[in-house]
Amino acid sequence: MTKATAENEPLVLLKNVSRDYGDGKTVHALRDINLSIVRGERVAVMGPSGSGKSTLLNLICGLDEPTAGVLKLEGIELSGLSDDARTRLRREKIGMIFQTFNLLPTLTAVENVSLPLRLQGVPRRIAEKRARVMLERIGLSERTTHRPDELSGGERQRIAIARALIFQPPLLLADEPTGNLDSATGEGILSLLDDLHRQFKITLLLVTHNVLAAAHCDRILTLRDGQIVKEEPVERTKVKVR
Ligand SMILES: Nc1ncnc2c1ncn2[C@@H]1O[C@H](COP(=O)(O)OP(=O)(O)OP(=O)(O)O)[C@@H](O)[C@H]1O
Ligand SMILES: [Mg+2]
Repeated sequence: MTKATAENEPLVLLKNVSRDYGDGKTVHALRDINLSIVRGERVAVMGPSGSGKSTLLNLICGLDEPTAGVLKLEGIELSGLSDDARTRLRREKIGMIFQTFNLLPTLTAVENVSLPLRLQGVPRRIAEKRARVMLERIGLSERTTHRPDELSGGERQRIAIARALIFQPPLLLADEPTGNLDSATGEGILSLLDDLHRQFKITLLLVTHNVLAAAHCDRILTLRDGQIVKEEPVERTKVKVR
């Protein structure tokens, strides 16, 4: 594929994507979703508990597969890739902040944060140096040698965020990143995301229940019972972001 073509492709494209769970009493977690996200766009996903938000993120990062429909990342259909190729794509292109953090319990904060770089073959000393800079940025420079069970819930969440951002991924998927944080810390994380967007044109899919967090995005999708029931641009009266 030529560069020009790759850049014209939406970064994320879903065509008639559905995800059913179970075979007896089927749960239709997502139903016939059509969604296109271009590079540099920030999309908030809102909707009640159980409406399919985390399922959507899991499909886009290739941790789960649609039961119907087509899902493409940079024009490449995920279902056409081997498990290895999908894992590689995820490591190189996608930063993920999970609702449940998914930190490795035996690793310290700095080891957890540097992990994505280590998996890409960056030497330990360099990876950990960058991890320390990141930890400082999110206000955790005093906690670098703590393991997850020695940290508070909010601190764990910030570690998970630092880990997702360490390699400035082109696509960041964030599941309630500010959900367990006090409002000042949450604001700090949101302004970090704003900075990353300004500096690196990061593309963001942000699941949140918080309208103030959603206002950091360009577009808000509302899911209900696995369907997109509303889609609206974020009005910016004071600041012109783009
Ligand atoms: N592995 C699974 N097996 C069966 N059902 C599942 C599975 N994962 C999710 N579901 C169901 O799919 C629906 C959508 O779940 P999902 O986790 O996407 O919701 P959500 O919008 O992220 O909710 P929350 O705001 O509570 O995190 C729910 O009804 C859930 O019970
Ligand atoms: Mg969820």
